[in-house]
Amino acid sequence: MEGQRRRAMAARWLWPLLLGIAGLGGVLQVHGQVDNLGFINLDCGLPESAAGYVDSVTKLRFTSDAGFIDAGTNYNMSSEYITPTMGRSWHNVRSFGGGAGTRSCYTLRSLVAGLKYLIRAKFWYGNYDGLDRAPVFDLHIGVNYWTTVNISNANTPVIYEVIAVVPGESVQVCLVNTGSGTPFISALDLRPLKNGLYPMANATQGLVLHTRANFGRDDGVILRYPDDPHDRFWIPQSKRAEWLEVSTAKKVQNIDDDSFDAPSAVMQTAITPVNSSSPVVFSWDAEPSASNPDPGYVCILHFSELQPLPVSAVRQFYVTLNGQLWLGKGFTPQYLYTNAVFNSIPNHGYHQYNVSLNATGNSTLPPILNALEIFSVLPTTGITTATQDVSAIAAIRGKYQVKKNWMGDPCVPKNFAWKGLGCSYAVSSPPTVTGLNLSSSGLSGNLSSSFAGLKGLQYLDLSRNNLTGSIPDTLSQLSSLTLLDLTDNQLSGSIPPGLVKRTQDGSLTLRYGNNPNLCSSGDYCQPPKKKRSSMVAVYVVVPVVAVLVILLLSVLLICMRRRRQGRTSDNIKRLDEANIKGHNSLRFDNRRFTYSELVAITNGFERVIGKGGFGKVYHGSLEDSTQVAVKLRSESSDQGEQEFLAEAQTLAKIHHKNLVSLIGYCKDMKYMALVYEYMSEGALDEHLRGKDNTMKTLTWRQRLRIALESAQGLEYLHKGCNPPLVHRDVKTSNILLNANLEAKIADFGLLKAFNSNNDTHVSTARVVGTLGYLDPEYHATFQLTNKSDVFSFGVVLLEIVTGQRHILNDPEPTSIVQWVRQRLARGNIEDVVDARMRGDHDVNSVWKIADTALKCTAQKPGERPTMTDVVAVLHECLELEAAHDNVNAGFYTPGSGGIMNDYGRYDTGMSTDLSQSSTAYEQEHLGSVSILSTGPAVR
Ligand SMILES: *[C@@H]1O[C@H](CO)[C@@H](O)[C@H](O)[C@H]1NC(C)=O
Ligand SMILES: *[C@@H]1O[C@H](CO)[C@@H](O)[C@H](O)[C@H]1NC(C)=O
Ligand SMILES: *[C@@H]1O[C@H](CO)[C@@H](O)[C@H](O)[C@H]1NC(C)=O
Ligand SMILES: *[C@@H]1O[C@H](CO)[C@@H](O)[C@H](O)[C@H]1NC(C)=O
Ligand SMILES: *[C@@H]1O[C@H](CO)[C@@H](O)[C@H](O)[C@H]1NC(C)=O
Ligand SMILES: *[C@@H]1O[C@H](CO)[C@@H](O)[C@H](O)[C@H]1NC(C)=O
Repeated sequence: MEGQRRRAMAARWLWPLLLGIAGLGGVLQVHGQVDNLGFINLDCGLPESAAGYVDSVTKLRFTSDAGFIDAGTNYNMSSEYITPTMGRSWHNVRSFGGGAGTRSCYTLRSLVAGLKYLIRAKFWYGNYDGLDRAPVFDLHIGVNYWTTVNISNANTPVIYEVIAVVPGESVQVCLVNTGSGTPFISALDLRPLKNGLYPMANATQGLVLHTRANFGRDDGVILRYPDDPHDRFWIPQSKRAEWLEVSTAKKVQNIDDDSFDAPSAVMQTAITPVNSSSPVVFSWDAEPSASNPDPGYVCILHFSELQPLPVSAVRQFYVTLNGQLWLGKGFTPQYLYTNAVFNSIPNHGYHQYNVSLNATGNSTLPPILNALEIFSVLPTTGITTATQDVSAIAAIRGKYQVKKNWMGDPCVPKNFAWKGLGCSYAVSSPPTVTGLNLSSSGLSGNLSSSFAGLKGLQYLDLSRNNLTGSIPDTLSQLSSLTLLDLTDNQLSGSIPPGLVKRTQDGSLTLRYGNNPNLCSSGDYCQPPKKKRSSMVAVYVVVPVVAVLVILLLSVLLICMRRRRQGRTSDNIKRLDEANIKGHNSLRFDNRRFTYSELVAITNGFERVIGKGGFGKVYHGSLEDSTQVAVKLRSESSDQGEQEFLAEAQTLAKIHHKNLVSLIGYCKDMKYMALVYEYMSEGALDEHLRGKDNTMKTLTWRQRLRIALESAQGLEYLHKGCNPPLVHRDVKTSNILLNANLEAKIADFGLLKAFNSNNDTHVSTARVVGTLGYLDPEYHATFQLTNKSDVFSFGVVLLEIVTGQRHILNDPEPTSIVQWVRQRLARGNIEDVVDARMRGDHDVNSVWKIADTALKCTAQKPGERPTMTDVVAVLHECLELEAAHDNVNAGFYTPGSGGIMNDYGRYDTGMSTDLSQSSTAYEQEHLGSVSILSTGPAVR
């Protein structure tokens, strides 16, 4: 009977999702950053120069967001959407163009690590971009996915709120372009919360607001600050026929240490069923998303008795969730005190959650409901980059005003890691920064001590900047640092002893060429330009030669000595001693192989992968399966031993990512071999000619990259080495490609050191190199400069553009330089471009490269650019290509998505009918409200 009656009278209403609170306008805050309430109110898109302003109703102060983000462009909302009564913060937005995959982050600072904050992001599209296409994009809080923003309507404001424990002294709110339109934002709020509030929000989970509803208030007023000191937005629920509204003018108190601090103004109104035996029922749907397929929900019901009840009256009810009793017994609200019923463990596993308040058998009054909040639980377990690295890199970013995409966490998520940063992602520890490339980044000022704060740094490239001052010795304490490139700066003083020591013990490669005011001692001295240069030339060059000769002799002598035991003489003894010295000073850091090891590695010299002047190159495989190339000096080769040793000597000393690196060497009796890293894709010439039919034609972009990488290798020889080196045999068959098609220069047998500070040349006894690549000047005069390599590289560039050989039969043998010049004279670049690229290239960048190639191959060395110039042009071309691609990717094409899943969307039922609820408050500050303005829908 009782059951029947209830069923008949149940006033069921269902809660469609979100309502996450849309609408809302004015916000608070005082000066600049955090006001005396600890609030931050950013009017996004307000020009930096504009003064902040005080919201007329809340008296909270808004400021421009300019100091909180490096990215984005300000726009005004389209004028037809602006109404005179709309809150000012909606008028403008900050928009983040730039294509899918870009992340733009606000950093909210001066927070207290470990405290809880409410963060609110507000969006009102208002066709600010004139495209009339409301975007969909993601929000992240720190490194954690927060929600997907789906702006379904240009005239509907949407607001997202999260309550989270902030792990550091700042928190980042990031907008992520997911390929469905350009992210933008209208305003951003932060409110500190006492730590006792919302106990279910902790270090590992945040609460994403789904619903915050105020019952029994029918005037459409959204209660917030100052009624709610925490400035939560309490959305009024329009009256429904089956509800009776009750209210009191008396203050409703919070109990001590209340977990929710529901404000009195919210608690002073409530609803009860008109039919006193009906339950109050509501429900909401689970909203699974790709990142959270089974979201947990937390529901908080706020109750207070508003009427003084006679002794005989009882208001007591059960709270049930999906048919299960939530509280074991009936619940009776206290008179003028707030009570909350909530679950502290999130509920999971239902498609729909139904909550019902039923009067108990003893109750003489129906249930009551003052307010409720529903949250979904957000895992905040994303591991951030190690904090000391974050602080160090943030200091570096601040000091040098690095823009790039340096926003959000430096290394996390992996696909958003900062450009120029290398990170290591160990399983057991937070990600750390292991590499930093700030080459050509316009840095000026002195070398920040913060670099030394990146303790895990393995390489640091600061070349081609405008850094001044001295080099701090603290850098030598970076124990993992193996490469420090300071080339092309304005550094002064001397190389600090710690770094000198590190370079001498072989643990660090230091490059510091082209710092005119830098001087140091010992091996690493770069002489002052003027007087002593010729002496230095002797100082530098002679030891190299001397050591080589000694090495060569001593190798032979050792061999002889071993064979003919006992045949010693003073002579040999002396040389032996010299050998020991020489050997020490050579400092081969590389592994030394025995001949029998080589036999094992190469499986008895089974597979020949190349052939050079000194002998064959074999494929090999080390114990750990690392593939290697073994260059064995042929026994019959009676010349070239010196070159062979020169190569070993030089390679042991120089390291660059675009030079094939030496893994080890062998000097075993008469056998000499060098063991290199294996370049699985062979030489560039094979790729350009398509020697192997299975080879794919290189794209223009790949060609540019290969050109840039090989140019960098050469530039390093010319500029990064002291003394500078000339390769002397630059050609496409000496540019090797690894499995990733990364290019490295190989074959250093002809490498020659010379003193560039003398600004002249080295005279060589005979001209070496390859015909067709040879600098005509060198050919004629035997005078070698690094411009000879530039000439050869010009030929390489022409081969890259045309796909032709360096000497063509046209029909007479013609050099490619002449061939291209003749054709370009007719003004048509397509005449020379490799047809196999099928037109998939930017004509401007091809012109640029062809033009550079012709400059490189100028007859007079003085008219040729330096490798540094060439590298710069190649960089520029690659960036143009990249920009070109980005522009294409950045176009919004409807339906181009595929990235977006069907999650995080609002039920449109909740955000319609804006006309009805235009109360005075909303007109003042919201313009329109989308939340629940029509009341919960009955389904
Ligand atoms: C936005 O509107 C304001 C005032 O109407 C104007 O001063 C400002 O220049 C506009 N900004 C943009 C980016 O159009
Ligand atoms: C946070 O709360 C959840 C749910 O109660 C719990 O599983 C988790 O261990 C808590 N995390 C911390 C750090 O207390
Ligand atoms: C409460 O009311 C709902 C809806 O009428 C009903 O399904 C449920 O069984 C009732 N629960 C109790 C404990 O009476
Ligand atoms: C209802 O009233 C009876 C009698 O007064 C009492 O025994 C019982 O515990 C009450 N039930 C509840 C749920 O309070
Ligand atoms: C480097 O800094 C100096 C001194 O501040 C300045 O004169 C020069 O223009 C800068 N060069 C570059 C390339 O920024
Ligand atoms: C965004 O919302 C609209 C309408 O509410 C919906 O049709 C669309 O699928 C949603 N998009 C995404 C990516 O969730």
